[in-house]
Amino acid sequence: MSRPWWHTTSIYQVYPRSFADSNGDGIGDLPGIVGHLDHLVDLGVGAIWVSPFFASPQRDIGYDISDYRSVAPEYGTLDDARTLIDEAHRRGLRVLFDLVLNHTSDQHAWFRESRSSRTNPKADWYVWHDGRVGSGGRRLPPNNWRSELQLTKAWQWSDEREQWYLATFLPFQPDLNWRHPDVRSEMFDTVRSWLAMGVDGFRLDIFGSIMQDDQLRDNPRRLDLSFGLPRVQQPTNTLNTDDNFTLAGDLRAVCDEFTPPPGTPEIPGAGERILLGEVFGPAETLRRYVRDGERDGLHLVFLFDFLTATYSAAGYRRLIERFEVEFPDPLQPTYVLENHDRTRSLSRVGGDLAKARVLATMLCTLRGVPVVYQGQEIGMTNRYIPLREADDPIPGLLARRLPEAVNRRLPERLNRDEVRTPMQWTAAPGVGFCPDDVAPWLPVNDNRSERNVADQSGDPSSLLSLYRTLLALRAASPALSGSSLHIVDSDAEEVLAYERSDGEERLLVVANLGARRAEHAITGGADIVVATDPSITVRVAGGGRSTVRLAANSAVVLRPA
Ligand code: NOJ
Ligand code: CA
Repeated sequence: MSRPWWHTTSIYQVYPRSFADSNGDGIGDLPGIVGHLDHLVDLGVGAIWVSPFFASPQRDIGYDISDYRSVAPEYGTLDDARTLIDEAHRRGLRVLFDLVLNHTSDQHAWFRESRSSRTNPKADWYVWHDGRVGSGGRRLPPNNWRSELQLTKAWQWSDEREQWYLATFLPFQPDLNWRHPDVRSEMFDTVRSWLAMGVDGFRLDIFGSIMQDDQLRDNPRRLDLSFGLPRVQQPTNTLNTDDNFTLAGDLRAVCDEFTPPPGTPEIPGAGERILLGEVFGPAETLRRYVRDGERDGLHLVFLFDFLTATYSAAGYRRLIERFEVEFPDPLQPTYVLENHDRTRSLSRVGGDLAKARVLATMLCTLRGVPVVYQGQEIGMTNRYIPLREADDPIPGLLARRLPEAVNRRLPERLNRDEVRTPMQWTAAPGVGFCPDDVAPWLPVNDNRSERNVADQSGDPSSLLSLYRTLLALRAASPALSGSSLHIVDSDAEEVLAYERSDGEERLLVVANLGARRAEHAITGGADIVVATDPSITVRVAGGGRSTVRLAANSAVVLRPA
């Protein structure tokens, strides 16, 4: 059965500022991405998601947009964006842009105008409210809402208007007022303009935070540790409100305007345009973003559970089983091990490359859409940078409160610069990201000599070669792009095994996540298709059975005979 392209694709996240610098200013740019598209073709991914490159003061590295319809000059021009789409399509790659719908930069002309008075034409384009008066005439915000990061209030005071504006994320990122018809039509038209340029879809930034309770009811004051961040209040009236599900359906309708009629060949640039949501919450909430009653919404949502899961067979099995129940076909789960906000996955497993190879094998063989963050394919790790030296704005909110000695030992990196260092193309001092005599915007990682694309390309035993093999297998295998995944029990506690199949083909994945060798019994024989360790064997054990012998932290894809 032919499946929509986005059921079987794999997505590679490009963080433009750190990917490749084409003009030697130490800042990655759009021509730099175009110049390295062949790496992504060789890697075998199906689509790229490009983090924001629109005009921006870059206080949150592009997630603070000052003009949605133009490109930040240090990244290039609109023509470069067009070239990126065309050159990607020419190579069979789809392209997703990043849509930051919730907020703009406080330097956006709309906000500057909106802030200037209570009566200007854009006065209601943002969420403005009068505050309350506390004891002794103290100025208080309209209600108790905290920002998404919980570190500040969600309201910021403006002397000019003598009112509060809502800033769900950081104070310089004012929330747009999506209840205003002109905001909706302007933003939807912007989306249309990128779709008309040929983009295949969008990753949606903090989509669940776009619309809050219109009666401004307080959030219940209760510690909430359930999803995403630890919160000092339950986000009942600020996150995942009903209006956000409606918006998902409305945005889907805009994308569908550009989806070709049934029967149109599935070629890049001509297929269904898709929405991939950054949303947080329990499964029923995430599913409601995909389908709300009778209405289709987002095509895919990120499932972030693997970002924090402990490396273990039992823990991963529980997650996979949950994803299978919560996102049964035709819904597609997504698998994410790292991104530009979170700890590098190799650092999370203590820098153990064998574990990274097991994770790569799982990522590329599970049912659903794998998302690979730039550098993950060569085993890039966090590069420690103290809070006080950060470019990232979040550490600025923390630096005074958190001693560096404590920060240094935290498993989750609070300074996101640490996971955004330049992509390591070569072992040269500038790692092939920028000229060697230029200082890149963030320092390069010390491990550049063993972790770089050039050296790993020629080494069949490298992590990069493994990713290439696995992604090529995934693209060619009916079983791996099929709709069935069946977990197989194992006598070995640290072994996780599952079968992928469709009518034509059956594959078995066996992973040993333990620190000791393990054996897994199978019926019949099997051929090794991909192994993360050369010592893995399949031996006939008699009685119509065989034994798969796995080294510590190793995995294998088998084709049962
Ligand atoms: C989520 C993005 O991934 C992050 O990098 C950004 O800072 C916030 N949204 C705000 O846009
Ligand atoms: Ca540059």
